Amino acid sequence: MDLGLRDRRALILGASAGLGRAVAAALVAEGARVAICARNKARVEAAARELGARAGLACDLSVPGAATALVDTARQRLGGVDILVTNTGGPPKGRFTDVTVEMWQEGFQSLWLATVEAIRAALPGMRQQRWGRILLVTSTAAKEPIPGLSVSNGLRAGLLGLVKSLAPEVAEEGVTVNALLPGYTATALIAELGIPEEELAEHIPARRLGRPEELGAMAAFLASEQAGYVTGQAIAVDGGFIRGL
Ligand SMILES: NC(=O)c1ccc[n+]([C@@H]2O[C@H](COP(=O)([O-])OP(=O)(O)OC[C@H]3O[C@@H](n4cnc5c(N)ncnc54)[C@H](OP(=O)(O)O)[C@@H]3O)[C@@H](O)[C@H]2O)c1
Repeated sequence: MDLGLRDRRALILGASAGLGRAVAAALVAEGARVAICARNKARVEAAARELGARAGLACDLSVPGAATALVDTARQRLGGVDILVTNTGGPPKGRFTDVTVEMWQEGFQSLWLATVEAIRAALPGMRQQRWGRILLVTSTAAKEPIPGLSVSNGLRAGLLGLVKSLAPEVAEEGVTVNALLPGYTATALIAELGIPEEELAEHIPARRLGRPEELGAMAAFLASEQAGYVTGQAIAVDGGFIRGL
């Protein structure tokens, strides 16, 4: 199926590794012109070269204003931004009683405000051309809280409210807004947990971790021409992990 993504201009945040990188790879494979960002300059530039992306931009999304500046740079490098995929590293971990107000603020900046900033910067161009795709990479934690991840659970659930608020505001202008909820997926972040894969797999109906490219494929579809009538949705790629309706 031709997804109609040839020459579409896409900015993927947090994409030198893991899920963001897989999303970038899927869009490059469909012929999109892609810019990626991450904090480590050498790694993001190397990733852009390896992927065949147009730009690898160094940016720390935990810095206020950084996401706005990033969208401006990407717009200059690509000639515009038709597709925006928000993503970043995991927020601070901990049970509620272990999490300080500073940790909440840190998580809020990188998970929430950077997302809002990037959308605010990219949206006017999408509305003007009456075509746009906004995808928020969140987590199954948005629907099924994970013990010990209070910041992630709280903030990611809120992001689903943001998706539901924004999607109807811009639907008539050809802009779709959706959340992607990855379940346990084999990336460096999961390897760092130090929990054997078989142990994690016991909690997943598919009895295995996801592959990053499985999330990438869903992102490419949601960015596609064919997905123009899919908006305001939270779509899990989780091997059946979320049990709720
Ligand atoms: N993997 C899973 O199973 C899973 C499941 C559910 C949700 N998630 C969530 O999905 C997101 C991505 O996870 P992942 O597994 O792909 O992580 P990852 O493998 O650690 O990759 C994270 C990417 O984001 C970049 N990044 C991190 N912090 C950043 C910042 N402040 N500003 C800009 N770029 C930043 C990293 O590069 P630099 O370090 O160079 O910045 C890297 O390219 C995380 O929020 C994670 O919590 C993951």
